[in-house]
Amino acid sequence: MSHHLEVKNLVKMFGGLIATNEMSFQVAEGESLGLIGPNGAGKTTIFSLIMGELRQTSGSITCFDSEISHLPTHERIQRGICRTYQVPRPFADMNVLENIRVGLMPDSIWQMIMRRPDPEREIELAQSVGFTENDFLRHPSELSIGDLRKLELARTLATDPSVMLLDEVFAGLTVAEIAQMAELINQKREAGMTLVIVSHDLKSLEPLIDRAIAMNYGAIVAEGSFADVMADDQVRATYLGDE
Ligand SMILES: Nc1ncnc2c1ncn2[C@@H]1O[C@H](COP(=O)(O)OP(=O)(O)OP(=O)(O)O)[C@@H](O)[C@H]1O
Ligand SMILES: [Mg+2]
Repeated sequence: MSHHLEVKNLVKMFGGLIATNEMSFQVAEGESLGLIGPNGAGKTTIFSLIMGELRQTSGSITCFDSEISHLPTHERIQRGICRTYQVPRPFADMNVLENIRVGLMPDSIWQMIMRRPDPEREIELAQSVGFTENDFLRHPSELSIGDLRKLELARTLATDPSVMLLDEVFAGLTVAEIAQMAELINQKREAGMTLVIVSHDLKSLEPLIDRAIAMNYGAIVAEGSFADVMADDQVRATYLGDE
C-alpha cells in the first residue's frame, strides 16, 4: 500500500547524541497522526528531517513511495509537504499579508519574476485562519502568540499543501485561541488533509487525531489509538509519573 508519508529506519545523530533512533512509521493519505513525547524526545527533529531542513544520518523518507530524503526543502514543499514551527518564525519587518505573500512565492528567482503578487489570495488565506481587515497590516511584534500561530498556519497553507506537520500549535494559547486553532485544524482534516500533529496538550490533541505515536529518546515507545497509547506503561510513567 502506498503511504502519503513514510519514514524507515530514520536515524539522526547530533555528534554523539541520537536524536532519532531507527524511527519507522507511516501516515496514510487523509490520516491525522498525533506525535507525543516529553521534551527532547525528538519530535521536532523528525519534522526537520521530513522537510529536509536537517539531513538524516541514515534511513529513508518517502512520499507516495517516492524517495524524497535527498531533495532540497523547496522541492519537498512542491510535493505538498509543509510544517509550522514550535517557535513561530515570521519575518519581523513584514506585515501579516506580506508574511503570507512569502509563502505564496515560488522558490526560484525566475518564477518570482514571472509571477505577479496575488493580493486576493493573500487576503483569502489571512481570513481563512481568522484574521480580520484590522490585522492585515500589523507586524509580528504587534501580534499575540495566538495570532503568530495563525500566521504560521496561513503561511504554510499558502504553499498549497497536502500534508501538514504541525509543531506545538496550542502552546501558549488562551482557551479561546485553542478552540479556534482546533477548529481550523479540524476543517483541514475534514477536507482530507494529511496531518501529523505534535502537542504536549493531550486534551486538545485527542479529538483531532486518528492514531498516536509516543516517543522517547528518539524512538517509538507506543503506537495505536490514543487510548491504547495512553494506557501503555512506559507512556504512563512519562506522563503521569507512574512507576
Ligand atoms: N541542532 C541541534 N544540535 C544538537 N542537538 C540538537 C539539535 N536539535 C535538537 N537537538 C537535540 O536533539 C534532541 C531532540 O530534540 P527535539 O527538539 O527534536 O525534541 P522535541 O521532542 O521536539 O522536544 P520539545 O518537546 O522540547 O520541543 C534533544 O536532546 C535536543 O537537545
Ligand atoms: Mg519540539
